[in-house]
Order: sequence, then structure tokens, then C-alpha cells
Amino acid sequence: MSEVRKFQAVSGVRDILPPDSALWNRVEEVARNVFATYDFSDIRLPIFEETELFARSVGAASDIVGKEMYTFADRDDSSVSLRPEATASVVRAYIEHGMHTLAGDVKLYYMGPMFRRERPQKGRYRQFYQIGAEVLTPAPKDVPDNFSRDAGIDADVIEMVLVFIERCGLVGHTLHINSIGCRDCRPKYVEVLRAALVAVKDKLGPDSQRRIETNPLRVLDSKLESEQAVIEALPRIADHLCEACREHFKMLQAMLFMRQIAYEVNWRLVRGLDYYMRTTFEITAPGLGSQNAVCGGGRYDGLVELLGGPPTKGIGFALGTDRLILALQEAGKGAVAKPPDAYIAWMGASAYGAAVRVARALRDAGFAVELPHDEMKFKKSLGLAGRLNARYAVILGDNEVAAGTVTLKRMADGSQQTVPEAGLAGHLRA
Ligand code: HAM
Repeated sequence: MSEVRKFQAVSGVRDILPPDSALWNRVEEVARNVFATYDFSDIRLPIFEETELFARSVGAASDIVGKEMYTFADRDDSSVSLRPEATASVVRAYIEHGMHTLAGDVKLYYMGPMFRRERPQKGRYRQFYQIGAEVLTPAPKDVPDNFSRDAGIDADVIEMVLVFIERCGLVGHTLHINSIGCRDCRPKYVEVLRAALVAVKDKLGPDSQRRIETNPLRVLDSKLESEQAVIEALPRIADHLCEACREHFKMLQAMLFMRQIAYEVNWRLVRGLDYYMRTTFEITAPGLGSQNAVCGGGRYDGLVELLGGPPTKGIGFALGTDRLILALQEAGKGAVAKPPDAYIAWMGASAYGAAVRVARALRDAGFAVELPHDEMKFKKSLGLAGRLNARYAVILGDNEVAAGTVTLKRMADGSQQTVPEAGLAGHLRA
């Protein structure tokens, strides 16, 4: 016989148990309700995709693709990866299903698990959850940029995620925005930045030194205390934006102002995914320690084309559900598990059948009912009803069954009344 062995969830992966799961459900429900009011529709995406899809969109040199993906050879030897994020999949689906022919902007939201092999810590997991949304807008080549329209979409998307998290009860969060330029101006800035970094190379740690070559923008993300003064003195992208990017960023700020949305411009907000251009944003929340970004997003005009689709503009965000839940719990906004409305305490040969019938009738009427399947003395059964926090105990003994009644006990004050079985739901509702 094989040896008995206990199992634990793999490192960085966790179970979400009641009562926490009730808060998860509530957050997801708020997201669906709020997103529907902005006329977004649900898209359900696969959990794994061709590895190449992420390499091309998120970027082969990014940490996510370079170090953190769960990649494996499928049986036909093709390389597939568990999705580290969902924007690439949304864009793939948009192209695959010809969604550019749909009327108006295509506005989609998704929720579900993502996978990144990062070092686990508070608020950072290897399987984590995102609630995200994307807006895709066809952008024919011969039509010039409409900055006010594009910035209006950016601001609406930002407004939507803020309404969502505020309706969940989050307070004290901060919206950070930036523009990281476009294909024209960013490469020039990156070279200016690289040159400045080379000049201060000795003052940087090994990670940042490596990034001078691979991805200088990521140096701005560094949280290393010893590098902060050096980074603050580096050239800033705002001084190197082209005319179009400057105009877009100015418009974005006007659009946020119009919506009375408070923000901070954070020139170091570059984000770790290659597909961004112009607008980037993040929302940080208190109580999360170093992993305090609850939401990240930005504009990705050109990504659809890069993946073989027609010229299209895109903007979206993903909110880290695990982190939002943590922040809500830290702020004392955790959901309380909903106790049962009724507990059926039954005893006697004929009472079980009546208990089954009463439980079904109450459930059909929408009540949450706990029906024990062990016959118990009333004292023990009512003790359990108390520990489960049931609102009412429905007591069924041989006498009640014979009379077609139940004894209804209100657990809060212990008051009891005899009620006809047929009228029970009405009494619970009162
Ligand atoms: P991201 O910044 O990589 O962006 O992730 C978005 C959010 O997911 C983060 O702000 C964080 O709350 C959460 N998150 C990321 N990694 C972890 C982790 N290991 N554990 C827990 N939470 C995590 C994206 O994924 C983009 N696809 C967002 C986007 C959509 N941009 C445009 N459209």
C-alpha cells in the first residue's frame, strides 16, 4: 500500500475560504453592476494561450515574459503559457472574431486567475486574480488623432474603475497618471535616459545596471532606497514628449478635471509591459505594504496591428482582486458571512419527512435554510442553531407534525410562536 501523505497548496497559490469568499463574490458583483452601467460586456477568455502571443504583446524582454511565465510544451510540442495577464488575449479574440466590425467602441471586461512566477509575499501570489476592462476603437490610418475623444475614453475608463472600488468601500486610495510617449518620442527619450544612467552607473545596484542595457525605463520603477536620489535627478519623459503626446496628456488631465477626479502626475510610472503608449495609470491603496498597486492600466494603440489586426486604439486596466480584498479587510470592510435564515430542529419518526418538506418550501421562497440530517435532542439541535447564528429555529416534533404546524423560535430573543406550516414563509419574511 502506498504511504499516506498530506498535501498543501503549492507555494504562492492559495485557497479562498468562507467567509472571505463572500467578500470576493460581493466585489465581483459590484464590478459587474458598475461595468454594465458603462455599457461594458463580459468576455470569457482561455486560461492558456500560445506563448508567442504574450512574447509579442507584453514583450519578450519584460520580467513577466522573460522570468515569470508558466510555460510548457503541449503534447504536439507547441509552446503554451498560463496567462500572466489578459489584455493580450482580449486583443487576440478581438482580431480572431473580427470585432472591429461591431458598432461603436468595443468595451469588454473580464475577471479570473492570472499566473506569474513571482516571489510570494503579502499581496503577491503566483496565482492571483484580476478584474479588468478594455476599450478598443477602430482607428483608420487616414483619420488624424482626435485627442479629446481618446482622452475622454481614457478618463471614462479611469472613472469607471474608481466608481467600482469606491462602491466596494475602498477609501484613501491615490490615482497616479503619466504619459510614456509614443513610438516617435519614447525611443529618443530612452536614449537620453540610457546616457544619463550610464553616467551614474556606479551608484546603481546590479538590477538597475543590467536594465540600462535591457530596459532603461524600468530603472524608474526601482524601490531601492539607495537609488532614489539618483533616479530623482534623471531626465524626465514629460520634457521629451512629442507634440501629439503632449496634447493627449494635457487633454487627459482636462478630462479628469471635468469629471472631478483627483490625480497625481507620477513621471516614474512606466509600467512593466511593452504594449503601452501615452497614458499609463495606477491606483495605490493604503494597508498593503510594498505591493500597494491595486490597479494598473494604460493605452496601447497599435497592439492590435502588431498582432495582425486592423489599425485600432486601445485602453484598459486590470485591478488585482486579491489586493483590493486585502485593502478592504485592512480597512475593516470585510464582509460578514450571511447566516442562515432558518435552522430546522426536528425530532421524531415522522418529523424528518416534514423537515425536508419545510426546508424545500422555504428554499423555494428564497430563504437560506440549514437542515441537519442527524436526529438530535432539541437542546443540542437548538445549541447548533445558535452557533450557526440562524435567525430562526423551526421546531418540528411529532406534536407539530400531527397538527400541521411548526414552532417558530426567534433566536435573538428566544420568543416562540406556533405557526401553521403553510404560513411559515410569510412569518419569516415579516
Ligand atoms: P499589471 O500592472 O501587470 O497590468 O497588473 C495589474 C494589477 O494586477 C496590479 O496592479 C496588481 O494589483 C495585480 N497583480 C499583478 N501581479 C500580481 C501578483 N503577482 N499578485 C497579486 N496581484 C497582482 C496588467 O496586467 C495589464 N494587463 C493591465 C491592463 C489592461 N493594461 C491595459 N489593459
